[in-house]
Amino acid sequence: MSSGMNTVHDWLNAHLTESVEELAQFLRIESVSTQPHHSRDVEKAALWLQNALTAMGMSAELHPTGGHPIVLAEWRGAPPGAPTILIYAHYDVQPVEPLAEWTSPPFEPTVRDNRLYARGAADDKGQLWIHLMAIRAHMACHGALPVNVVILVEGEEEMGSKHLRPFIDAQCGRLAADCIVISDTPMFAEGIPSVLSSLRGMAYFEIRCQGPSSDLHSGQYGGAVRNPAATLSRILASLHGDDDTVAVRGFYDEVQNQAPADRARIRALPFDEELFKSEIGVTALAGEKDFEVLERLWKRPTCEVNGILSGYTGEGAKTVLPASAFAKVSFRLVPAQTPQEIERLLASHIAGLAADGVTTTVRMLHGGMPWSADVAGPAFDAAQRALTTAFGRAAVIAGSGGSIPIVRDLEDALGAPVLLIGFGLVGENAHAPNEWLSLNNFRLGAHAIAELFVELVQLPELAESHA
Ligand code: BES
Ligand code: MN
Ligand code: MN
Repeated sequence: MSSGMNTVHDWLNAHLTESVEELAQFLRIESVSTQPHHSRDVEKAALWLQNALTAMGMSAELHPTGGHPIVLAEWRGAPPGAPTILIYAHYDVQPVEPLAEWTSPPFEPTVRDNRLYARGAADDKGQLWIHLMAIRAHMACHGALPVNVVILVEGEEEMGSKHLRPFIDAQCGRLAADCIVISDTPMFAEGIPSVLSSLRGMAYFEIRCQGPSSDLHSGQYGGAVRNPAATLSRILASLHGDDDTVAVRGFYDEVQNQAPADRARIRALPFDEELFKSEIGVTALAGEKDFEVLERLWKRPTCEVNGILSGYTGEGAKTVLPASAFAKVSFRLVPAQTPQEIERLLASHIAGLAADGVTTTVRMLHGGMPWSADVAGPAFDAAQRALTTAFGRAAVIAGSGGSIPIVRDLEDALGAPVLLIGFGLVGENAHAPNEWLSLNNFRLGAHAIAELFVELVQLPELAESHA
C-alpha cells in the first residue's frame, strides 16, 4: 500500500461514524419502488442523492423517466490517459411488510452488534454509500481521484429496470467506461471477500385461473363446478418432477455445461452444508442430485413459486368455492436460456393442462438475461488485489444465484468488464424483515473500493496487452 493510500485509509477510519450517520439519512427515505403510494418518497431519495453527489464535488443530474428518475453523476478530472470507471447501483428498496417482524422500524436506521439495521442497508443504499465514501476519501486527501468516475443509480432495480435499458442505449456515449463496478451482492462469507463470476437471469410470471364469475357456496355448487384453486394447484405441482428437476418440456435444452475449471473452482470453496441448513432452519436440502449445493444455487436454472392467493384464508372455516386463483412463479436462468424462450415454454406447458370451465392466463412481469464473466482479465486481477489488501485475506471468485438483469445490458452496451464486488453477507435479510449491513464490511469495503481506484489506473495498458 502506498503512503498516499495510508492517508486515504486514515481518513476513512476517522470519518466512519459521520459516514454512517449520513447513510442513515438516506436510509430514512422510504423509497419502495414497487408500491405506488411511495412514489413521492422514491423521488425524494433521487433528489437527496443528487444533492449528496453534488456536495461531493461531482456534477450530478436527475433524469426523469416514465417511471422513477435515474441519477447520473460524473467526475472527469483524472490525469490524461486515466481510465473511466462506471459505478452502477440502485436507490430503490423492497417493501417492508410484514412490519411486525422488525425489531426496530425499517426506516429508522439503528446500530446493534456493529450492524446497521434498516431497509436498504445492504440492498443497495449502504453498498452505494461505500463507493461514495471511497470517492470522498480520495477527494479529501488528494483533491482528486486517480480515475474518472461515472455514477449511474436507478430507482427501478427491484421492479425490473424497465426504464434503465433505453436510457443506457440513448446515453451509451456518456456512460462509456473501461470497467463497470457494482456492489449489490453479498460476499462469499464473513471475512472472505469475493468477486462474482456469474449471476442468474430471471423470468417472472403471474398465472391466473378464472372459474365462475363470483365466489360460490361450496355445498350448493361443489361437485359440478371446477375449482380454480385446484386447477392452479395442479399447474404448480406439475412444474417439478419427483427428482426436483424442472418439468417444463424444453427447459434444459439451451443450458450449457459448466467448464471443468469453473466446476473445480466452485468445489474448492469452503462450504459447510450443515451450517447452511441450520442457518435457514431446514433439516434437509433439495434440488438436482448430480450437482453440489453451490452449483445448484449458482449454475443451475430453477423454478420457484413466489406466492399463491385464492379463496378464504382468514380465521375459522368458510365453505367457499373461489372464483379465481392466482400465483406468482419465477424462473432463474443460466446461459444460454432467455426469458422469451421460457415464456414460450411455460405457455405451452400450461396449455397442455387446460381444464374445462377454468380459464388460465399467463403474464410475464419482467425478465432479464443471465450473466457470466471471463475472470482471466486485468480488471479481475485488480479487484482481487484491492479486496485482498483491504480485508487481509485472499479474495475468492464466487458465483451467485441472484439476478441483476441490467448487468448483462451494461456489459453488452459498453463492452467493458463488469466487477461485481459485494460487501453484504449471506444472512443480511435482504428483501426480508431486519435487513442489516455489517459496519465492519462498510469500513473495509470503502478501503477496498478506494484501493481499487488506484489498482485500476493501469487498466487501459493492461487491457491492451491482455487482448
Ligand atoms: N441485489 C439484488 C441481487 C442479488 C441478491 C444478487 C443476492 C446476488 C445475490 C437485487 O437487488 C435483486 O433483488 N434482484 C432481484 C431481481 C430483480 C429482477 C427483481 C432478484 O435477484 O430477485
Ligand atoms: Mn440490489
Ligand atoms: Mn434486491
